[in-house]
Amino acid sequence: MRSFLFIPADSEKKLSKAASCGADAIILDLEDSVALSAKDAARHSAAAYLKSADRTGPKIIVRMNALDTPFWEKDLEAVVPAKPDLIVVPKTLSGDCVKKVGARIDRMGGDKHIGIGCVATETAASLFTLGTYAGSHERLAFLTWGAEDLAAALGARDNKDENGNYTGPYRLARTLTLLGAVAAGVQPVDGIWKDFRDEKGLETEARIAMRDGFTGKMAIHPAQVAIINEVFTPSEADLAHARAVIAAFDGAGDVGVVALDGVMLDIPHLKQARALLARAGA
Ligand code: COA
Ligand code: MG
Repeated sequence: MRSFLFIPADSEKKLSKAASCGADAIILDLEDSVALSAKDAARHSAAAYLKSADRTGPKIIVRMNALDTPFWEKDLEAVVPAKPDLIVVPKTLSGDCVKKVGARIDRMGGDKHIGIGCVATETAASLFTLGTYAGSHERLAFLTWGAEDLAAALGARDNKDENGNYTGPYRLARTLTLLGAVAAGVQPVDGIWKDFRDEKGLETEARIAMRDGFTGKMAIHPAQVAIINEVFTPSEADLAHARAVIAAFDGAGDVGVVALDGVMLDIPHLKQARALLARAGA
């Protein structure tokens, strides 16, 4: 999945646009985009949406409330029977949070295909445990990160410098998320770009994430979806290069290193080429 569009689950109007926005996945949010007074309404509306939606469209994900709130179990009870594709757990502290939510879904008799995604960098303590997601629960499907809650947790005035670049704590959070996800064998998903009128800024940030190894990105506005899909779809030039790398190795026989257009290629480049073609196939 390349694009994940957040939709406040209590907004009928935004939900009505969900299926046609082009996102690979929509995330019906029960957490921070929903007022405390609207938590019940949002739960009901998410469950109703899941039951009536055409399930051949975008994957349907629900973001529950955090494990330290009185809401999360009610959230799961309302939506798990309606079989979301994934549950997103916000403000996770470590792989133990995945175990807890996974076990709860299991005990409820939740469908075995319901995955779990985590927003894994929203507290200071969370940054010390990104290595603990590996092996936490078989439902784990992706890790993403959040700079807004982390800034609030740290008491920061801002999370970007005067040039618009994330400062150290947030770059660290992003990097650890990428490493933690890859170490766990799950998808690394880049966080949101909140200035939704700034499409150039979004594209630049998405390209940097893609270059580092993220394979998808969160969106908060329908206008962001096409840009994210474009960036995370391997280009024809990338695919042609990957095929050329594989052909160069195939043509050279049982060797560990070849040359292509004046560049040295060894086994990691072959692995990268195969991974890119596999992702394009998916
Ligand atoms: N999903 C579906 N539709 C959306 C949408 C979303 N996330 N965000 C906006 N739209 C719709 C609007 O309802 C509007 O519809 P209309 O043309 O019928 O009026 C249209 O897209 C254009 O929206 P626009 O006027 O540009 O933005 P807005 O001021 O209505 O909304 C936000 C701006 C930020 C409040 C809105 O994009 C939003 O709610 N985003 C998701 C927030 C969220 O879930 N946060 C939690 C995760 S960080
Ligand atoms: Mg948040």
